[in-house]
Amino acid sequence: MPFVPPEVLLLGPGPSPTSPAVRMAQSAPLLGHLDPAFLPVLEGVQQSLRTLFGTQNALTLPIAGTGTAGMELLVANLVEPGDRVVLGVHGVFGQRFAEAARRAGGDVVEVRAEFGHSLALEAMERAIAAGPTRLVGVVHAETSTGVLTDLKPIAAAARAHGALFAVDCVTSLAGVGLHFDALGVDAAFSGTQKCLSAPPGLSPITFSPRALAKAQARRNPPPFYFDTRLLTGYFGPDRAYHYTAPISMIYAIAAALDEVAAEGMAARETRHRRVAAALRAGLEPLGLVPLVPVPEATPMLTTIRYPDGVDDKAFRAHLRQVHEIEVGGGLGSLAGKVFRVGLMGHGARLPNVLRALAAFGDALGALGHRADLGAALAAARASHA
Ligand SMILES: Cc1ncc(COP(=O)(O)O)c(C=O)c1O
Repeated sequence: MPFVPPEVLLLGPGPSPTSPAVRMAQSAPLLGHLDPAFLPVLEGVQQSLRTLFGTQNALTLPIAGTGTAGMELLVANLVEPGDRVVLGVHGVFGQRFAEAARRAGGDVVEVRAEFGHSLALEAMERAIAAGPTRLVGVVHAETSTGVLTDLKPIAAAARAHGALFAVDCVTSLAGVGLHFDALGVDAAFSGTQKCLSAPPGLSPITFSPRALAKAQARRNPPPFYFDTRLLTGYFGPDRAYHYTAPISMIYAIAAALDEVAAEGMAARETRHRRVAAALRAGLEPLGLVPLVPVPEATPMLTTIRYPDGVDDKAFRAHLRQVHEIEVGGGLGSLAGKVFRVGLMGHGARLPNVLRALAAFGDALGALGHRADLGAALAAARASHA
């Protein structure tokens, strides 16, 4: 018997629930990765990704691997030993980006902010100006904290000092509108399992011509798999074999991108913002407080503080076992202090907010805390009306 997974509502930091169309696409029969019927699907995916990133970059493609593979590809191509790299670090994924750049030999300057707070622009600007900088990097939507970073001033500071600007948009892609060419983003990587609502396993990446030129002028080539020249061979007009494209994953991302296009990115961003607002409205009657205030918060992921005395493991076990809902725990310095609720892509809809609030209220009650569940549901519905 094949494994039949239990029904679990995925409201954590990813993976998010997939739509029926994405699931059906993924189970379609395989084609060869150079088959004339498959190549237009691939071309369509690349073109849709350009639209979503807000770029015309020729090198825009879904690399095989999860978001971290995209991060590795980026640093492997753009960081050479000794290069000065300025990285905003205000969460676990900023730390990961910094560590990846260090492992590529970069001389990494971390501009830190406390988890749950935004990066200080002046501190970023000072660090960028303090020496000849090859690369500036930030995480757009910090999934470990729920902070959304304003990219525009950091992009401008990087450009003013001749540095490349790189963005981790694993969680923001397809949840908020991206306009990377207009902002001056040189390189970015994302993932499929967040607001795109496709399974994990691909990392959409994009490199500007400026970034590509730097990558291809390296003294030493990057790892074979991540070599932009070889990738361009398959993902460019030649369609020359580099590695066997993960066909079923490409079907899945194609279906997910079609759904984004049918909805329209502006409407999709509004949907994410409306359900996040409904969730927030329902938290107060439960005695729950978001970690990050609205102007700085990510609309697709809300981090919520535990009231004193609520045990993280017991709370999340109640959600999973009694309500069949997954949410995320805190990461790094926030472990045990917060839980993280993702309303992403196909999961970002009001019924899921109401189910989540009902489960939170019930879990709090079971753990001995008073929570006004009726008021929470009414507040969420009123916010979304
Ligand atoms: C902002 C951010 N960057 C990078 C990653 C790493 O992606 P993956 O786990 O798909 O390798 C994640 C995953 O949650 C993330 O949220």
